[in-house]
Amino acid sequence: MDFIPDYELAKKESRDPIFGTYSSAYIITNEDLRASMNFVPKNCENALVVAASGDHPLFCSLYGAKNVDTFDISYNAKCIMDIKIAALNIMNHSEYTSFIKDLYDISVPLTRIKNMDNILYKLPKTEYDYINALSDYPIFYRRSISLNHAVLPTQFEYNELRKRIKLPYNFILTNICKIGEKLTKSYDFIHLSNIFDYTRSFYYEHVVLSLMERVRPGGRIVTQFFAEGNDQIFDVYMAKIIKNHNNWILNKTIINNNKFEYFKNGIYVLERTR
Ligand SMILES: C[S@@+](CC[C@H](N)C(=O)[O-])C[C@H]1O[C@@H](n2cnc3c(N)ncnc32)[C@H](O)[C@@H]1O
Repeated sequence: MDFIPDYELAKKESRDPIFGTYSSAYIITNEDLRASMNFVPKNCENALVVAASGDHPLFCSLYGAKNVDTFDISYNAKCIMDIKIAALNIMNHSEYTSFIKDLYDISVPLTRIKNMDNILYKLPKTEYDYINALSDYPIFYRRSISLNHAVLPTQFEYNELRKRIKLPYNFILTNICKIGEKLTKSYDFIHLSNIFDYTRSFYYEHVVLSLMERVRPGGRIVTQFFAEGNDQIFDVYMAKIIKNHNNWILNKTIINNNKFEYFKNGIYVLERTR
């Protein structure tokens, strides 16, 4: 990755709740990734997913993607993702889940987290230097509310991940609105998480069209929405795209395991048929 962190800017911007280069990274997903990663096609060679908390690429590998590339607007997402891979390679399942719980819990100082030092030493040098330099700043979105245990990998999932993941994933630092310009490969699966919930709808069509050029026959683009209303706007743009591309089909599934009525998981699957 061709990127030199700007420490001074990071000190200011890691406190910014709006997503940007240094916005705090999520420690753990708030999505039902098992539901959306079920759409990883069989024999998936290349996948592209948002880095987010690192859970998206991990679950994507778990559901069969051989090579996973990641992207995110935030460099901190790359840090948490690399931390999880380092942890996976040196910890057993119970150590890993305790480690993630401590990392999530804002009342536990980073320096008191068991095994934190061992993990930092395993990181690529840029991420190691960056995390050490900014250890007093909120580069990670740590919380005081309890963690949803359902999103942690089970023992079986963890064992599978350990077999499959040895090295950090490729990472592209980019705003999704410019992702089309940054890609050099074709993909069987692209997962956009709930990023469009935070993007102006003006960009929906442009981003999806630029990604469609990068999808192989039989490949899929999965987009997830939380906030009701955004998905209805997306519907309008997708209907237009489908009308003009007869080798693509669109399916929408709503899963609602969230306690808030308006906070639904709308999963769109855009599939290239040939
Ligand atoms: C939208 S957030 C929400 C959390 C997500 N539901 C999860 O389970 O992790 C997911 C990731 O998207 C990234 N993101 C937000 N806006 C973005 C944008 N315009 N381009 C690229 N990545 C973006 C954030 O930095 C964050 O890491």
